Parts: sequence; structure tokens; C-alpha cells
Amino acid sequence: MSEPLVLGIETSCDETGIGIVRGRTLLSNTIASSMDEHARYGGVVPEVAARAHLEALQPAIDAALAEAGVRLDQLDAVAVTSGPGLAGALMVGVGAAKGLAVSLDKPLYAVNHLVGHIAADILTPESEPLEYPTIALLVSGGHTSLLHVRDLTTDVELLGETVDDAAGEAFDKVARLLSLPYPGGPEIDRAAVGGDPEAIRFPRGLSRASDLAKHRYDFSFSGLKTAVARWVERFEAEAAAAGDEAPALPIADVAASFREAVVDVLVTKALAACADLGVPRLLLGGGVIANRRLREVALARAAEAGVTVRIPPLSLCTDNGAMIAALAAELISSGRPPSTLAFGADSTLPV
Ligand code: KG4
Ligand code: ZN
Repeated sequence: MSEPLVLGIETSCDETGIGIVRGRTLLSNTIASSMDEHARYGGVVPEVAARAHLEALQPAIDAALAEAGVRLDQLDAVAVTSGPGLAGALMVGVGAAKGLAVSLDKPLYAVNHLVGHIAADILTPESEPLEYPTIALLVSGGHTSLLHVRDLTTDVELLGETVDDAAGEAFDKVARLLSLPYPGGPEIDRAAVGGDPEAIRFPRGLSRASDLAKHRYDFSFSGLKTAVARWVERFEAEAAAAGDEAPALPIADVAASFREAVVDVLVTKALAACADLGVPRLLLGGGVIANRRLREVALARAAEAGVTVRIPPLSLCTDNGAMIAALAAELISSGRPPSTLAFGADSTLPV
């Protein structure tokens, strides 16, 4: 099968993503997000996400088929994210995919969400095909991972990941601390306009020489979040003591300095992996890639290091079903047999 027609289902977090591809061609990419329902909690609530997937799946499948101009019986295969992600949310997608594949009598491919993010790059028609090896930095509200991709379908190695909060989660938590709404990433970006990124030196997690031995490619953002909280508390205590003369919280400087700490550590570690492994290519993915400062710093520092950077369009960087379908299409083309129905949702699925 040279150009398989695949429908991909993605429900690992709060986006219900249905995508349809024919080989490397994107036919539709439908996304229903339950983000608004999570906003009042300041973060994704697993039970709310799972229920929202249940409600959104069928309409999203119908919309994706209509957009692609494809009927269910024309599909060559169904693909689904089986992990990693939120267990209940994954289960909804896996159940739906199994039901669909069995009722249509089509092969079913269970794929890894992180490898799916890398596959998003395939659907960017204007660029050259992904070259191997490449380093991939995936940053979202749910993950912060650095991978060594020697071959998309056979050889992807996890180099490191966050040991606590994901980078997007850090943006969301710091936004909350600054009384900004959820999701925090875009809000911090807005608040940082005109701010001085050097105003406050916030810590770069797992970057000391003593950390690097064991955690060279790992990330940590919870200490940074605490440092921002302490800084704001101290400022407010001093302001309260100063009474009427007190200055207002320099929110632009805090936001810009926090963002700089996150961006600096992400880019430094990704480029360290490129240098250590002699890989002059870096692929970026995940919702945090929407951050303009991250893209700017990554592009500038990579250019200095002789590393080329690839960034798929944002609609393919955030969680989506098209990347899942694209990965399955590659697996099919490479001769991989389908998954048996024995697989289940696996919240900690390794790459
Ligand atoms: O990939 P994504 O859409 O979905 C999940 O992680 O489920 O990523 C969402 C995350 C949120 O944490 C959000 O705050 C963050 O990406 N984000 C950003 C920006 N836009 C979204 N973080 C930093 N800067 C942004 N401009
Ligand atoms: Zn993701």
C-alpha cells in the first residue's frame, strides 16, 4: 500500500484530535478542545477531559471525514494514541479506535504520542523530508522531552524529560501566581511585552555542573515556579511595608525574566544534545512552541551552532490527530504489521 488513507485519533490530554492523511498528504485536522472547561481550575482536570472526549469524538470524526471528502469504508487503517498521557482520556480514544477498526474490519495501529509529535513534520509539504538523525524537543502542557531520532519508524530514543512539571505547566502555574488567566503561556507572553528578561535572574533547573552528570538532558521547572513565587511574595511584603510609596509589581519584568529562564534552559539542553551527539538538526514541537521568544532564541542560537531548526506549523505542533495518522501511514509504508487488539491505554508508554 503506497499511499494509505489513515484516520488518526488523539485523546491523550485535553484535545480531541481527529486527522485524516493519505500517505504524507494532510486531508483534514479537526480539533475539539476542552480547554475552556479546565480554565476555571487553572489546569487540565483528567475526569473533565475524559468526559469531554466522549462527547466530542463522534462529531469530530464526522467533521474530519466531511472535510477530507472521505467515507469511513474508504479508510485503509485507523490509528490511535495509546500513550503516554492521561489514562482516562487515552482510554476513550483507544476504545473508540478499536470499535471503529473492528466494525470496519480495518487494521488498527496503536502509536506513541511523542513519536507522533515528530511525525507532524512529515505533513509540512513545503519543506524537505525530515533528515536523520535529528534531535527533537517537544514542549507542551503535558510533556517536556528531548529525543534522538535516528529513524521515525524504528529508532527513536528518549534522551531526557522533565523530572517534575512540564514547561507549559510552569507557564500555567506562574500565570496563576501573577493572577493571569489559563492557559498561561500566551498570557505570560503578552505580560512580558516591554519587560526586561535580565531584570531578575531566575534559576535554570538541572543546569549546575553537579546536576549535569546525571541529568544532562533532563528538565526541572518546579524550582523555577517556586523562585518566582518567593520573589513576588518578597516584593509584596516590602511593598506593604512601604505603604503609599510602594511601587507596583513589575509584572512585565517578572514575566520576561521567567520566560527567559524557561527558554534558556530548553534551548541550551537541546543544543547540548545536538553538539554531544554530532547532530546538526533540531525539530521543535508541542504547544509551547507558540512562544515567540522560544522560537527566536532557538533559531538564533542554533544558527550560531550550525544547527538547522524545523518548526511545523502551530496547528500541527499542538496535540492533533493528523500527526497520529501520519505516523501510522509511515509505519504501514515501512511494512509494520498492525497492532493486535490486546493493547490498552498506557499512561507511561515508553517511546
Ligand atoms: O500542546 P498543547 O496545546 O497541549 C497540551 O499540552 O495539552 O500545549 C498547551 C500548553 C499550555 O501549557 C500553554 O500554556 C502552553 O502550551 N502555551 C504556551 C504558549 N502558548 C501555549 N507556552 C508558552 N508560550 C506560549 N505562547
Ligand atoms: Zn503532546
